[in-house]
Amino acid sequence: MDINEYFDWSPEKIQDFRDCLLAWYDQNGRDLPWRRTSDPYAIWVSEVMLQQTQVDTVIDYYQRFMQALPTVQALAQAPQEQLMSLWQGLGYYSRVRNMQQAAKTVMSEYQGQMPKTLKELLTLKGIGPYTGAAIASIAFNQVEPAIDGNLMRVTARLFEIDQDIQKTATKRLFKEILDQLIDPNRPGDFNQALMDMGALVMTPSNPYPNPHPLADFDRSFQHKTSQLYPVKLKKTKQKQELKLALYLVNEKGQMLVRQHQTGELLQGLWHFPMLNLNDIATLNQSTAIKGLALQQFFSQDQVAEWSNEAGILDKAKLLLESVQGPIKHVFSHRIWQVYLLPVVYSKQSEKLLEALWLMDDSFRFVNETTYAQLATSTLQKKLDRIRMKED
Ligand code: ADE
Repeated sequence: MDINEYFDWSPEKIQDFRDCLLAWYDQNGRDLPWRRTSDPYAIWVSEVMLQQTQVDTVIDYYQRFMQALPTVQALAQAPQEQLMSLWQGLGYYSRVRNMQQAAKTVMSEYQGQMPKTLKELLTLKGIGPYTGAAIASIAFNQVEPAIDGNLMRVTARLFEIDQDIQKTATKRLFKEILDQLIDPNRPGDFNQALMDMGALVMTPSNPYPNPHPLADFDRSFQHKTSQLYPVKLKKTKQKQELKLALYLVNEKGQMLVRQHQTGELLQGLWHFPMLNLNDIATLNQSTAIKGLALQQFFSQDQVAEWSNEAGILDKAKLLLESVQGPIKHVFSHRIWQVYLLPVVYSKQSEKLLEALWLMDDSFRFVNETTYAQLATSTLQKKLDRIRMKED
């Protein structure tokens, strides 16, 4: 993939482009809270939040987070529960855990000052090429293009780049082009101007903006081919997982919850204990003890029926009669369909739970007041809503 196949602008045209883009940005750029600061820590926090979350959602979270943890030092020392509650609802919780680990590194290796170069920033946990370039350019005026989805779409349209944007070689091509285009005098503004151009004007659903501030520079616009860009081939399908969450209340009115552990999705957050329904498909063959346990929760007939059924989805349908949901929860590589099963606590339940799970410290019985103080995921909040309706 040769840059000359796509890029043929003269130095004058490059300068015209920068001027045109930045003039548009100065008039039309969004007034966002993290653009009113030059504090590298604040910019870092905003960029990490913006990695997988929309600007509109991030604003409130950003303000709360900065108020609670205004410095790298505060972040480095924050208790896990506080981090979880500040991040509740944003998803992808490893982002905040990585950020805290990086904050500790900044304290121990960089005397509490954020490093200024992309190379150093990349050594920090959770900072990849995009986030590193965003921080380096916005906070430290380093000439580094910060290539996110918006920049790829805009660049693909400007130069009619007909290569799959998910390929490494295509990403390299975008970088080579943007290395030429980026304004060395205002690199942070240049990056954010392209982000805004992508978010406000050259959006996915609007290939032919009217008016189009970059019309003179947009080859696909001139050729009426913008709807073809960017080229994005199908990605591998997310794996579907069926889960059953048990809403189990004991005689004191306390419910059983479990904190997801290291290595699990939604680590650190509290949920109703969940069974993997995909496993139930092969339950009779695999673990007799789990089978026995399940028969306490469900009728013998039901379990027998499941083991004779072929498809997991059919089993889920059977379950639908006694359970609520499902709640759909989407991760980057997985989709959970979670059903909620209210279970009446009985004498047998304890043995039962021990058969299903190792009842270690990750499990707790809590009353509603304590429960309200635990950090829970968006998924769990949705389960709460359906359990409340039932109560
Ligand atoms: N998305 C990621 N970073 C951003 C920023 N600095 N401004 C607007 N949108 C963004």
